[in-house]
Amino acid sequence: MATGSGKGKTILFGEHFVVYGLPALAAGIASETTAEITRVRSFGWKLVDKRPAMPGYKEKKYEEQKASIDNMLKHLNIDTTKTGFQIDLGGDLVCASGIGASAASCVAIARALNEEYSLGLNDDQINETAYVGEMGYHGTPSGLDNTASTFGGLIWFVRDLSGGSPKFEKLKLGKAANLVIASTGLTASTKVVVGDVKKRKDADSDWFDSISRAYNHLVNDARRALIELNFDKVGMLMNRNHDLLQQLTVSCKELDSLVDIARVNGAIGAKMTGTGRGGNMIALAPDEATMKRVADALKRGGAAGVWMTTFGL
Ligand code: MEV
Repeated sequence: MATGSGKGKTILFGEHFVVYGLPALAAGIASETTAEITRVRSFGWKLVDKRPAMPGYKEKKYEEQKASIDNMLKHLNIDTTKTGFQIDLGGDLVCASGIGASAASCVAIARALNEEYSLGLNDDQINETAYVGEMGYHGTPSGLDNTASTFGGLIWFVRDLSGGSPKFEKLKLGKAANLVIASTGLTASTKVVVGDVKKRKDADSDWFDSISRAYNHLVNDARRALIELNFDKVGMLMNRNHDLLQQLTVSCKELDSLVDIARVNGAIGAKMTGTGRGGNMIALAPDEATMKRVADALKRGGAAGVWMTTFGL
């Protein structure tokens, strides 16, 4: 039997824009998915998914998850026609859109396969394998989620649009930042939402280019503000990033409502995170007491799940 794990993540800046080669900032969170591989006498693979999840999440993702596991087995040349295995997924990461649940499970499974089949993969190769797994969930992943899940920490990430390896850099802040994550409880399909943005972009490239230009300034300012520990500015830029995501049509009334609740209860900034049209939002809090106040307000305001975490150290 072998085990592996992958971290959940939150995108601080850059969901959707990252698909088109613009920089993104993401942070690994402490919660993770674990995978256990046990060989069995029969052929093929069987999944026992014990991860905590938002209602409906696993059912909605199951077909994509199967494609994802088959992709990784093909990539690693693992033949299950004679002896197969069982995968047990677990861990404390609550599966919801926007928390990197698919990437965390790909990384966990890649690590467990690496150990069980003595493949000798390093973290870069685990990350590549998880990327191939992510392609089962949506055809054109940027690679941001699997990179944040493999390496954890705060990362600056730029996709190489010509197909080469992405560029990413780990950033360390002098101080931890307090973050609240809240779920709408709605599961979105990344494939559908990313595909829809592409359709709109193809139909009106001027519209997309003007939003992207604004985002490009914003993310570079956000990087500087984070390094200078200017969290007031980071929060203001998160608010502006949410506006741009609304313009891209990837937010929804449930996300906007949670974002408003966080802002009026003391968050320095709040935005949707990840795919959107459901899934999660994040709020930056100036201190621990405010973080708790924001979290409580989000619970009262109807969030399906609320988590408090930190990033940056
Ligand atoms: C999904 O977590 C993030 C998106 O930007 C898609 C991607 O980066 O592949 C929407």
